[in-house]
Amino acid sequence: MVELTGDLPRRRFLKAAVALGGTSALSACVDRFGDEPVPAGDPAAKPPSQHAWREYIRHDEDGNSQLPRHQILLYIDFDGDGPPSADARATLEEALGVLDRAYEWSHRGLLHSIAYSPSYFDRFEASLPAAIDLPQPTALSPFESPTFDTQDAVVHLASDRAAVVLEADAALRGERETANDESVTATITDVATVDSRRTGFVGAGLPAKNQDAAGIPDSKPVPEASPLFMGFKAGFRGNQASESAVTFDDGPFAGGTTKVIANLRQRLDDWYGEQSYEDRVMELFSPSHAEQGLVEGIGSNLGDDSGIDQFVDDIERDAREFGRVGHAQKAARANRDDDGNVRLLRRHFESTDDIGSDQRVASLHFPSLQQRVSEFEAVRRAMNGTNMTEVTPAVRQRVNNGILEYIFTRRRGYFLVPPRRHRSLPTPRPE
Ligand code: HEM
Repeated sequence: MVELTGDLPRRRFLKAAVALGGTSALSACVDRFGDEPVPAGDPAAKPPSQHAWREYIRHDEDGNSQLPRHQILLYIDFDGDGPPSADARATLEEALGVLDRAYEWSHRGLLHSIAYSPSYFDRFEASLPAAIDLPQPTALSPFESPTFDTQDAVVHLASDRAAVVLEADAALRGERETANDESVTATITDVATVDSRRTGFVGAGLPAKNQDAAGIPDSKPVPEASPLFMGFKAGFRGNQASESAVTFDDGPFAGGTTKVIANLRQRLDDWYGEQSYEDRVMELFSPSHAEQGLVEGIGSNLGDDSGIDQFVDDIERDAREFGRVGHAQKAARANRDDDGNVRLLRRHFESTDDIGSDQRVASLHFPSLQQRVSEFEAVRRAMNGTNMTEVTPAVRQRVNNGILEYIFTRRRGYFLVPPRRHRSLPTPRPE
């Protein structure tokens, strides 16, 4: 049994922590919580939606959500073929119940969820309700050929405390007898196999600390204050859908949502080596953001909105005048519904995972929540900016076209996040 509690020999803790991705995990030893005990959970106090984070995590002074600093994704396949048994369902519910009891639902404790792929639902004869838009994953640009994550399900663990996600992960995988003193009475590995384990981090300090990875130049360019490798913050409240907007209102999965998770590799040599700060602002936000000096440092001065809406209609003019278009500017074109509300709730976090190898590379896990997967697909296609290449030869498919020169999609999977009441091996038509 691997044990990860604070009482354990430091050497063993560090060994396990390294598996989380280098120094990010080591900050568990000196995290802001010190020796503060991890708050235990009250299963009755968990919100009905598994994706309910907003009320339970930190916000910055502008009310933007601050995502949990340490996260793990476990892609799993359930044993056997066909519909799962009632026994398997009870075992999984028990395994997740351990986490419910062990940890408070918060950034100090643990946020956890399980989401199911279209391949999982193919195990059943019945199909999902027609209103649920959950196709198989697909390539979304002419220049990518990702591997598709078609495992049955993905478990997502998130906390500000690295030791908590590590402990919960070890408990789910049957490597511990207790989790925060709660006895581990069932595990995910009782009913499934872990196909892929992915880890990451987000928030000021962690990208700077982890920039010793392929894809980031040796000059250590990532600012200490930046929550992301590219040197800016993302996820302004005004540019994100609310949790209620991405949550199904009715049907058997009311309270649930859909979740797309991509993994992108980042190659930031030219981003930091060839581009000035203004160039980076142009390519990430919009040319006018740079021209008008709207962004300072990592962009905290933008407050609770990137201000992109005022520049969306300028995009062709910007392409002609500046020879560039911005990432947010392109994406925003498809990211509003008919009433002007934002469609996607992005929760991306950084990683040094090189899935399938033990190399350290700069990458990004990109979960996005939305009511319908087709909304994500439309926004992602808008981000391709393919039509911009017709406006001027200066904008090419991957050059001067937002941040496409620096990011490479490697994986993509689509999932349904059921409401908590149906989280364990749901049928396509739960009662
Ligand atoms: C390394 C990769 C990425 C980085 C560093 C990044 C960063 C950013 C930043 C700084 C913004 C502007 C601030 C904000 O509104 O949050 C933004 C906006 C946005 N990004 Fe990304 N992004 C990345 C990849 C992606 C991908 C793969 C998608 C896929 C759809 C995406 C979709 C969006 C959307 C929808 C917006 C908001 C535009 C609006 O206001 O509607 N981003 N991103």
